[in-house]
This record gives sequence, structure tokens and C-alpha cells, in this order.
Amino acid sequence: MASRGLFITFEGIDGAGKSSHIDALADALRAQGRTVVRTREPGGTPLAETLRELFLTQPMDALTEALLVFAARRDHIGQVIAPALARGDVVLCDRFTDATFAYQGGGRGFAIETLSILERMVQTGTALEPDLMLEPDLTLWFDLEPGVAAARLVSARAPDRFEAQDAEFFGRVAQAYAERARAAPQRFVRIDAAQSRHGVWQQLTSALVRRGWLAIMVAPPGGAA
Ligand code: TYD
Repeated sequence: MASRGLFITFEGIDGAGKSSHIDALADALRAQGRTVVRTREPGGTPLAETLRELFLTQPMDALTEALLVFAARRDHIGQVIAPALARGDVVLCDRFTDATFAYQGGGRGFAIETLSILERMVQTGTALEPDLMLEPDLTLWFDLEPGVAAARLVSARAPDRFEAQDAEFFGRVAQAYAERARAAPQRFVRIDAAQSRHGVWQQLTSALVRRGWLAIMVAPPGGAA
């Protein structure tokens, strides 16, 4: 396992502002000589991107949602994530299983025990870690008050099936993220996403510097943050 790469995931409710920071972090890591795979869930492979389209647009019940997103995840792990980690790359993934616990578990009220069973089935038995459950090395959780996130989304593009949910739904999603973070304090780093872009960037890079994964505090490439 010594040569295994790094698996970093980014989580938070819609509108918390993950995407541009993931791009900037990818650039910073590349500038320090790392090979970076920037990917997302649901998605990241042709099959999983097809499932994503259905997931975001078609009405379905919570079990179907969970099965679709885990099917997409199984393909993504096998085709992209595990091979990249075996090569020693850094994988930056916009959402992963914590989102399923937050949205399908917290948001939709789907049974956490069932999600845990699916998590174990889907994330065990990979070529990389045949006997272990694959999990992120670090999860950067963009925590933002649901009302603030909703205000940020208003000016964005047309909402998908999840973005169109009400404030109560996002309150439950946010609470479920907080519970996942409490249960895995070594893996989770809470990012205060209410801060300025610069403040958020500082928090993100500090988390990587502390672990020795970024050599120094780098300025955001292009001064974007
Ligand atoms: P998102 O990363 O927000 O994509 P975009 O920035 O293009 O809107 O993810 C799409 C949506 O999918 C988001 O609302 C959260 C939802 N989702 C789940 O409900 N469960 C999951 O397991 C994942 C990964 C995402």
C-alpha cells in the first residue's frame, strides 16, 4: 500500500461552492509535480455519466436513487478511482458516498443501515484493496447554512431534481453531513464555506499542508480564490 495515491473527496450541500476550489487545488497539486485525476459523482465514466443523467432528471423512489448512485459508484471505482490510486495519483472527487448518506439518507429519509450495506458491497473487493473497504483519505466538507447556500443558487442555472428541493430538505442533508463528520473525525475536515473565497482557499490548503500533501501554502493559481 506504500505507493497508493491519495483519495480526496469534496462534500457539502448544493450552493456551498466546491467546484472552483477543486479546480484550483488540482492546479496547485499539479504545479507541485503530482498527477491529478479530477472527477465527480455520480459520474466519472461513460456508464456512470449516463446513470447521472437519469438520476438528476427522472422521477424515482429513494431505493432506486440509492441503487443507481451506487451502481455508478461501482463502475467509477473499478474504472477510474482504484486504477488511479494504484498508479500513485491524487484523485480529487466532487462528492462520494457521504453524499448518498446525506441526500438519500438525510434528505429522503432512506434507511442508513441499508445504505451502509450497499456502501460495504460496492466499496469492497476492488483490485486495489481486495479485503478492505475503499474510503477517502480525506473529505473536505464545505459547511454552509442552507439559507445562504440557497441564496447563492438562485442566480445559478436551472435547478436539477435535488437543487429544486426545499429548505427543509437541505436542512436534513446538512445535518446528515454533520453526523457523518462526527462519526469519522480523522477523515473529515470541516471547511467554513461562509468565508471569502480566499478564506476558503486558506482552509483547504492548510488541511493538505498539515498532512504533508502540499509542500507549502501556495497561492491559488491565477489568483482565482
Ligand atoms: P453536484 O456535484 O451538485 O453537481 P452540479 O454541481 O453539476 O449540480 O451533484 C449533483 C446532485 O446529486 C447534487 O444535488 C447531490 C446529488 N447526489 C445525491 O443525491 N447522492 C449522491 O450520492 C451523490 C454523489 C450526489
